[in-house]
Amino acid sequence: MSSTPSTSSSATPVTVPAVRARKVRDGSEPMVMVTAYDAPGARIASEAGVDMILVGDSLAMVVLGYDDTLQVTVDDIAHHTAAVARAKPDPLIVADLPWLSYHVSVEDTVRNAAVLVRAGAEAVKLEGGTKRIPMIEAIVDAEIPVMGHIGLTPQSVHAMGGFKVQGKSSDAAMQLVNDAKALQHAGCFAIVLEGVPTEVAKLVTEAVDVPTIGIGAGPDCDGQVLVYHDVLGIEDRMAPKFVRRYAEVKKSSVEAIAAYAADVRTKAFPGPDESYHLAADVAETLGLYGSGQ
Ligand code: KIV
Repeated sequence: MSSTPSTSSSATPVTVPAVRARKVRDGSEPMVMVTAYDAPGARIASEAGVDMILVGDSLAMVVLGYDDTLQVTVDDIAHHTAAVARAKPDPLIVADLPWLSYHVSVEDTVRNAAVLVRAGAEAVKLEGGTKRIPMIEAIVDAEIPVMGHIGLTPQSVHAMGGFKVQGKSSDAAMQLVNDAKALQHAGCFAIVLEGVPTEVAKLVTEAVDVPTIGIGAGPDCDGQVLVYHDVLGIEDRMAPKFVRRYAEVKKSSVEAIAAYAADVRTKAFPGPDESYHLAADVAETLGLYGSGQ
């Protein structure tokens, strides 16, 4: 586990063109994306120097307590995007288009993407390959930058039969390469590759000129993304193979709240320094002289 965070990257706001230009094969440092869902999370991500914040639909699972990502709405994502944006973070703010917000019609898709931009997103992300091209082209045409997302796409959990690694056969691997090329051609400025074998992520990364951002896709992508609660160990019920925990925030939080509870119960909290007191003359007038302030 690495203990020293790199804060070398973004001291000024990160832009879509700057992200689009970041290919490792052209000499760029790998990019860092982390999810965040509120203002404190955005401030932490920004001060840590990450390149992009994703207001992901993982919100459903790590914040709102659902079992999958299918339950969140455009309004939910907009609400949390606005909270992130209020922190005015330096990283690029990318917001997830949730399930069914880009599946019904092109018009609906553009309107939903616009809701997220008005909430503070600087780009939107959507899941899927070639079949999403008309939607992607329409959003890009409305001047909204789009990040693609292929491989293990959590919004397809039922169609995939669970959260399963994708692209394991040669046909499936080539389909991912073709999907990535189609996304690039449609105007995506970057592509998330989730839950695919390292070798397939490498093939895809080599096949496109836009950066790939991996999660469970090995080290050969142009960047990596992880969920905030996984990185910090706030979510400790699951430990996916691809997650590295850099802190044990759930454990230290439980310990801290338990210590607070013990102090309240033993009357060790609040102490004199944590309480307000009357001025001595007022206390005296009230007959409280010598009350121990
Ligand atoms: O919603 C999310 O957090 C994501 C990442 C896992 C890429 O889509």
